[in-house]
Amino acid sequence: MLKKSIEQAFNAQINAETYSAYLYWSMSAWCEKNNLGGFANWMRIQAQEEMSHAMKFYTHVLERGGEVKLTSIDGPETEWKDIEAVFAATLRHENAVTERINHLVDLAIQEKDHAANQFLQWFVNEQVEEEKNVEQILGQLRIMGKQPGAALFMMDKEMAARVYTPPAAPAD
Ligand code: FEO
Repeated sequence: MLKKSIEQAFNAQINAETYSAYLYWSMSAWCEKNNLGGFANWMRIQAQEEMSHAMKFYTHVLERGGEVKLTSIDGPETEWKDIEAVFAATLRHENAVTERINHLVDLAIQEKDHAANQFLQWFVNEQVEEEKNVEQILGQLRIMGKQPGAALFMMDKEMAARVYTPPAAPAD
């Protein structure tokens, strides 16, 4: 049986992961509007991954006999200065998600919930991957500097190649 403290924290994480999807859909729409279809594709897939993260928490709560309680999702930002600002915001967001996951692990340890702790380890590894990917893209955008021009066009083509890969079976 899931302790109430873990149930509440996991329900909050379902909201946070769904908000992440909202944010990346919003960024995808911004990219589309600014003729960066490849980046828009990358962000759409990012959003798809976030929905799968939300569903992992949803499934874990139900499998442990807990109650899923969905709450309102905040509206994300809709405007950014340029594509570099989009990825700087993405990195800040993923850093905040990593903090959230770390707090969930702390809570699972505190509550001696080994199943929840084991389940969360997938997310610990996923955040390392997410931060690395976003840091790399942001780094490349920064190398392009103030006159991205042709290089940004080439990078947009590269971003168009991203495809969605469903996550492996849940770690729980
Ligand atoms: Fe669900 Fe991007 O972390």
